[in-house]
Amino acid sequence: MNSAGPAAIQTLQQAVQEAVNRYVARNPRSAAAADDAARAMPGGNTRSSLFHRPFPLRMAQGAGCRLRDVDGHDYIDLLGEFTSGIAGHSPEPILTAIRDALADGINLSAHNMLEARLAAGLCARFPSIDLIRFANSGTEANLMALATARAFTGRHKVVVFENAYHGGLLAFGPGGLRVAVPHDYAILPYNDKDAAESYFARHGAEVAAVLVEPMLGAGGCVPGDPEFLSLLARLARHHEAILIFDEVQTSRLSAGGRQALLGMTPDMTTIGKYFGGGLAFGAFGGRADLMAQYDPRQAGALMHAGTFNNNTLAMAAGLAALEHVVTPDALDRINALGDAMRGSLNALFAEQGAPFHVTGLGSIMNIHPVPATGAEAGLLRDLIFFDLLERGFFIASRGLIALSVPIGPAEMSAFADAVRDILIARRGVLGQAVPSAPR
Ligand SMILES: Cc1ncc(COP(=O)(O)O)c(C=O)c1O
Repeated sequence: MNSAGPAAIQTLQQAVQEAVNRYVARNPRSAAAADDAARAMPGGNTRSSLFHRPFPLRMAQGAGCRLRDVDGHDYIDLLGEFTSGIAGHSPEPILTAIRDALADGINLSAHNMLEARLAAGLCARFPSIDLIRFANSGTEANLMALATARAFTGRHKVVVFENAYHGGLLAFGPGGLRVAVPHDYAILPYNDKDAAESYFARHGAEVAAVLVEPMLGAGGCVPGDPEFLSLLARLARHHEAILIFDEVQTSRLSAGGRQALLGMTPDMTTIGKYFGGGLAFGAFGGRADLMAQYDPRQAGALMHAGTFNNNTLAMAAGLAALEHVVTPDALDRINALGDAMRGSLNALFAEQGAPFHVTGLGSIMNIHPVPATGAEAGLLRDLIFFDLLERGFFIASRGLIALSVPIGPAEMSAFADAVRDILIARRGVLGQAVPSAPR
């Protein structure tokens, strides 16, 4: 892959600096709020993925697929709360369910009548989940799934993959490992069948669990190769290790997640995000014999406590989302929209000779610079991000787009027009930046 020369990088730097200057001038309230926040939080941040320079926006309101920032600018929200906000901003069935739950009392010091209904609905969606338990985040769900596998197998090794993200304490990209919960990890390259085979040939008998995202999400929307995922299932079965699909993101790719699309049944599955209807939520489930370890009627049952595991608000919101918003039809519709959008963006980048491409599956995707690394990669990423913000489209600074149910063809075509507009307006800068994108 060719890289841009120093002159081209300088032009790109200038263009990004000008875009950033306009961003700073447009957003004085967000800037002041970021400064204030930094007095009480490191870098003003309590959620790493939200940070970008010079400071991230503060949003004031959301409705449907629209956002308004504290300086009064409106955006079409194409980030969808990093895949979690699939229902859009506060749809009526979820609001009603939360209001009803509030009216009945926040948490009741006991079981409530919502938790088993949510559990049954989720077991029905995912054939791999015979029994399920709730937690408060996807991170916690994955921590519990690993603990379940270790307790069941009596083994210690945990196979994970480079650039995988399973939560704040289980991240295997840059900056993740130093704060990861200290399991005995083997961190293998994703989609590399030879590496997996060779690792299992040497250590298969020691492996408790293989934890894998069917598509790397935070790692850049890299779809798992079906043959790679099937190989992991075969290796795990052969070596009696537990295969855990982290479907915290990919469970939205069909009513039964990516596992249904692949016709696979992992031993365990973790989910979260939208199945809490926008409130804090996670869940882990799987084979009855694995989950039965937690059956408190059994002597020696494993412990899994948690004050908020069955909190009434998340149970009510999750149930409303499952039954009324994140329906199989709605998922099919936005996944088809996402497939079409990815296709047309890639066609547009090709047509304009622009150094970008889009990866992903269904309604989840990531715009990447070409080439992926080096000085110009960050500049290209920044350029399209700030230019999109200026035109009223909110995506992640790293290029993530996750469609939500309220998004329709009108928003899609407005976005395609904006991207075309940017590529044309920036032709001089982009044309020099990278001689050719891979096709
Ligand atoms: C694949 C995947 N697993 C786990 C998590 C962690 O979920 P949470 O942020 O609810 O802890 C995420 C969050 O983005 C995720 O994308």
